[in-house]
Amino acid sequence: MKKFLFVLSALLTLGLPMRAQSLKLNENNIDEVVKAMTLEEKAQLLVGRGRSVAFLAAFGGNGMIGQHADIVSGAAGSTFGLDRLGITPTVVADGPAGLRIAPTREGTDRTFYCTGFPVGISLASSWNTELVRQVGAAIGNEVLEYGVDVLLAPGMNLQRSPLLGRNFEYYSEDPLVTGKIAAAFVNGVQSNGVGTSIKHYAANSQETNRKGVNDVVAQRPLRELYLKGFEIAVREAKPWTVMSSYNLLNGEYTQESHGLLTTILRDEWGFDGIVLSDWTDKAETRSAAREIHAGQDLKMPGAPVLSEDIITAVKAGKVSMEDVDLCVKRMLRYIVRTPRFKGYKYSENPDLKAHAAITRQSATEGMVLLKNENHTLPIRNAENIAVFGINSYDFIAGGTGSGNVNKAYVVDLIEGLNNAGLKPTGSLADLYMAYKKYQETKNAAAGQRSTMLGKPVLPEMEIDRKLIDIQANLADMAILTIGRQAGEGRDRAIEDDFNLTSLERKMLSDICDAFHMQGKKVVVILNMGNAIETASWKGMPDAILMAWQPGQEGGNSVADVLVGKSNPSGKLTMTFPVNCMDVPSSLNFPIGSQPAVGSSNAAGQRKNVDYTLHAEGMDIGYRYFHTNNVNVSYPFGFGLSYTTFAYSRPTVKPLADGFEATVTVTNTGDTAGKEVVQLYVSAPAGGLEKPSAELRSFAKTRELKPGESQVLTFKVDAYTLASFNEAASAWETAAGQYRLLFAANVEDVRQTAVFTLKKAASWKVNDVLAPDMPL
Ligand code: BGC
Repeated sequence: MKKFLFVLSALLTLGLPMRAQSLKLNENNIDEVVKAMTLEEKAQLLVGRGRSVAFLAAFGGNGMIGQHADIVSGAAGSTFGLDRLGITPTVVADGPAGLRIAPTREGTDRTFYCTGFPVGISLASSWNTELVRQVGAAIGNEVLEYGVDVLLAPGMNLQRSPLLGRNFEYYSEDPLVTGKIAAAFVNGVQSNGVGTSIKHYAANSQETNRKGVNDVVAQRPLRELYLKGFEIAVREAKPWTVMSSYNLLNGEYTQESHGLLTTILRDEWGFDGIVLSDWTDKAETRSAAREIHAGQDLKMPGAPVLSEDIITAVKAGKVSMEDVDLCVKRMLRYIVRTPRFKGYKYSENPDLKAHAAITRQSATEGMVLLKNENHTLPIRNAENIAVFGINSYDFIAGGTGSGNVNKAYVVDLIEGLNNAGLKPTGSLADLYMAYKKYQETKNAAAGQRSTMLGKPVLPEMEIDRKLIDIQANLADMAILTIGRQAGEGRDRAIEDDFNLTSLERKMLSDICDAFHMQGKKVVVILNMGNAIETASWKGMPDAILMAWQPGQEGGNSVADVLVGKSNPSGKLTMTFPVNCMDVPSSLNFPIGSQPAVGSSNAAGQRKNVDYTLHAEGMDIGYRYFHTNNVNVSYPFGFGLSYTTFAYSRPTVKPLADGFEATVTVTNTGDTAGKEVVQLYVSAPAGGLEKPSAELRSFAKTRELKPGESQVLTFKVDAYTLASFNEAASAWETAAGQYRLLFAANVEDVRQTAVFTLKKAASWKVNDVLAPDMPL
C-alpha cells in the first residue's frame, strides 16, 4: 500500500507540472488556466508590477529593487506575466492628449517622442465626433507602435467647477457631450486593437485631497450627471478597461464599491472589461478583500505586498476564491486581446509627421471665437503684428501631470505667425528681443525640470507703456496671449488664476489704449485648458479667440485660424460665468485651501465634499444658469464663426421609441464654415422637476460653402429623455409634449418644434450608492 501511494504521489508530482507546462493561455482555455493557477500566481496577476524606473527618477523616488518594471520606458505601469502558463505581461500608459512614455532611453541615442494632441476640452469643443475618432485613431496607432497595450484615457469627469485643476483633460459640464466625445475617442483608439481606460470612475471632481475626499452626491445627480457620461461611453464604445478613482463616493472608496464597479457598471451597463485602480500606493491601500469583491480586477501601480494582502485575505476567509477567480478570469480575457499577447511586432516608429498634420487641423476645430467685432478676424491688410504676452513665445501645448505628453517640439505663436506669412518680428524687433531675453533668463533660472513633468510655464513679463506706444506706432495690429496651466494634484485659485492678474489687466488695458488710439485692432488669444473670467475685460479687445491648449502644433493651428485658413467652428462645452462664485459648486469647492502640489494625496484625511449643500444637486453649468436666468459671460454652446448660418423649420417624426428630427442648415455668409447645432429639450410638466432645457443631441455640418445647405438629423430615444426617480430607483420619461429647441447655443434658440410622447416609460434599476449621510 505504502509503495502504491509513493508511486501515485511520484506520478502526481511529475504529472502535474508536465500538464501545467504544456498548458498555455489562449482565448478558449481561460477556465482551464484559472484552474491551473496557484493562489500566489492569481494574487500576482491582480496587482501591477510597480512604478517604472522613469517614473521613480522623475519624481525623486528610489523604489525597491525588483518592484518596478520598464517594458516600455516611462509607461505608467505594467501587469505580471507568467511564463509557465503563457501569460504575457501587458503595458499601460497615459493619455489623454497623446501617449505618454519616456522620450529618451539609456543605451541609445534614439528618441521616442509622441505627438502632443489638443487637450480634451479642446477636442470636445469641436463637437465633431468623427474628428475626435480620427484623433483617437492616430493616438491609438502610437500606442500600438510603441508597444503599449492600453491608453489610460479618456478623462471623463464632469467640469463641475472652473477651478477643477484637471478640466483640460475632461470634456464638458454636460454628460451627453462627455459621453459622446469619449465614445468617439475610445472607438478611435481601440480601432487599432489596443485598449483604453475611461477614467476616473467616478465623481472625481476636485484635485484637492483627491485621495481622501468623500464626495456626497444624491442618487439623481449621480445617475443623471456624474455617471451618465461613463454609461454612454461603456454602452457605445465598449472600452477595454475602466479606471476607478481615488476618492470616496457616498462613504465608500470607489475602488471598493460593489455598487459602482459591479451592480451599475457590469450588471446594468454590460461592461465586460477589467476595472483597474487609479495609481494608489501601498500607504494608501484600501482593503484588498473589499476591492476584489467590488470587482476591481487590477491594483495599480502595484507592489508585492499588495499581492500578499490578497493571499492573506483569501486565507482568512475575507474574500472568496470565487471572487478572486472572477477577477483573474477577466484579467485573462483582457490579456488575450492585447497586441503583446498576440505577439505584435511593434515598429517604435509611428508616422509622427502625419500625426502632426492631424493635430494641427483638429486643434483649429476646437477653437472658440468668443468675440469678433467689425470682422477683426480673419486678419486682412495687416502684416506687422506686435505680439505681447509671454505665452505667445512660450506657448502652452497641454496640461501638467500624467496628462503631459513628451513631445518633440511645440510650435509657438511667433513661429506660427511667421509660417503664415505674417511678420511678428521684423521692424518690431525690440519687442521680440525683450521677450526672448526674458524667456532665456527665466528658463535658465527655472532650471531643468524632468521631461516627465514638462517645462514650467513662465510668469508674465512686465512691459513698459513706452514700448507699447512705440509698437502701436509701428505695427498694424496687436496680439496678446494670456496663458494658464493647471494639472493633476492641484485645483485652481480664483485670484490670479480664474481672474486675470493685475499685471495682465494692466497690459491689456495699456495695449488696447495705445493701439485703439492709433485706430488699430487688438486680438486676445486665450491659451489654457479651462474657463477664465472674461466679463470684466471682454469689452476692451476687438477679438477674443479661445485657443485652449492646442497641442504641439499650437502656434500653427492658431495662425491658421487668425489668417482664415481655418474658419473656427468650436463652441464652449462649459459655461463661462460672470463670477466664479456664481457657479453653484463654488460654495462647496475647497477654494483657498489648496495644499502644495504633491501634498494633495494625504491618505486617510477623509473630508466630505457635500454636493447636496447650497442646493448644488443638479445645478451644474447651464442647467443652473439657464433655468434660473442667471447672467453669464459666455453661455454653454457659444462660439462665433467667420460666416453666418440659417436654420430651416425642423421636421419631427415620432418613432416606435422616441423621435427623429431634422433641420437644414444653410451657410448664409461669404466664407466656408461648419456649424454645430444643439438640440435642447424642455420636458412637460407633471413628471420629475427638471432643468428648463437639457441637451439631448447635437450634430455638426461638414464644411459648407457660402449658400450651401445640409440636413442634420437628430435621433433621440425615450431613455435619453429620462430622469432618475430616487424614490422608485427608476429612470422615468413622462408622457406629454416635449419642446425641442434647435439652438446655436443654450441662449440662442433658432427653431423650435414639439414632440408628443404618448405613453410614459420607465426603467427600474438597482437602489445602490445612496449617500452615507441623511440628506
Ligand atoms: C492619475 C491618472 C493616471 C495615473 C497613471 C494618476 O495619478 O490620476 O489619471 O492615469 O496616475 O499615471
